[in-house]
Amino acid sequence: MASAAIGLVAVILGVRLIDNNITFESAFLVLLLTPEFYRPLRELGVARHAGMEGKAAAKRIIEILETPLPVQRVATSRKPLVDPLTITCAGVTYTYPGSERSALSGVNLTLPAGSCTALVGRSGAGKSTLVNLLLRFMDAQDGSITVNDIPLSALPVETWREYIALVPQRPYLFYGSVMANIRMARPSASAQEIIEVAELAGAAEFINQLPSGYETEIGERGARLSAGQAQRIAIARAFLKDAPLLILDEPTSSLDPKSEMLIRQALERLMHNRTALVIAHRYNTIASAEQIAIMEHGKIVEIGKPERLLQQDGSYTQLMEMYRKARVTI
Ligand SMILES: Nc1ncnc2c1ncn2[C@@H]1O[C@H](COP(=O)(O)OP(=O)(O)OP(=O)(O)O)[C@@H](O)[C@H]1O
Ligand SMILES: [Mg+2]
Repeated sequence: MASAAIGLVAVILGVRLIDNNITFESAFLVLLLTPEFYRPLRELGVARHAGMEGKAAAKRIIEILETPLPVQRVATSRKPLVDPLTITCAGVTYTYPGSERSALSGVNLTLPAGSCTALVGRSGAGKSTLVNLLLRFMDAQDGSITVNDIPLSALPVETWREYIALVPQRPYLFYGSVMANIRMARPSASAQEIIEVAELAGAAEFINQLPSGYETEIGERGARLSAGQAQRIAIARAFLKDAPLLILDEPTSSLDPKSEMLIRQALERLMHNRTALVIAHRYNTIASAEQIAIMEHGKIVEIGKPERLLQQDGSYTQLMEMYRKARVTI
């Protein structure tokens, strides 16, 4: 509308100029002022568009905020948990809504205090589902998970998550400095503490080589980090959180040998004297765990120490053979 009106004014001014009905100076001034006259209208249009986009986004955000939590919120136990933690799953069964087959059926597994359990199994066996239950993203339909003999469902969800450090397969880095990304695990941490945990995680070397060191912007719009570097940031977060239970989902992608070695060393330090559950894809991790649990079709089919499992000729030997053939990963 504004453009059409400006055009119309120009035509009228042209005609009047030809008829000598207006001086050139006046015509020129009117022509210069016409777009200014319509500016608020154009701005209104832009603002209206932004408003509509905002409304559409708000609708989706509200949908997410209003999604009911899949876990029950009644917490009955107020007793603080005492370190170290022993976690016991008894008959844990879970079926995803709308799915016919249960993802976990009758899982019995104990994570002994202060030691590392490697969970292995083919894709779709139910490993991530078990981790999701431990993190209480959802609750088991049957069976129970207890920590130091207190049922998980009796603890407030937020309190329970304070006890867990999670190193996911693909750690999420948000837009911000390296320091802010690590500090996320404990907002009150000082800069000195963050540098210390980065060193423990084997991340200090590559961070110091970034253009502005710890202040380099990373994440969604910042510098891209490799999978191995992102994993080390996640390990630094876990060191900073210093929680008694560590859950680690090893990356399936193969890393370069140097990253692999740095991550291994950092993890050994991190797991020391901590209850840990590792979804393992690497031969070395599996071989160094204190207990190995093999999962197939939502059940734990074998469990034991690596040496004992190797003597039996069961799924473990087959799996290990497969891992060895694939070198480090499956
Ligand atoms: N959100 C979901 N909705 C429905 N079914 C799901 C969902 N997530 C997983 N499943 C199913 O549950 C089963 C177990 O999946 P899970 O993700 O726990 O396997 P996994 O052992 O972690 O596999 P991977 O090694 O590939 O990560 C699979 O059959 C899978 O298809
Ligand atoms: Mg998984």
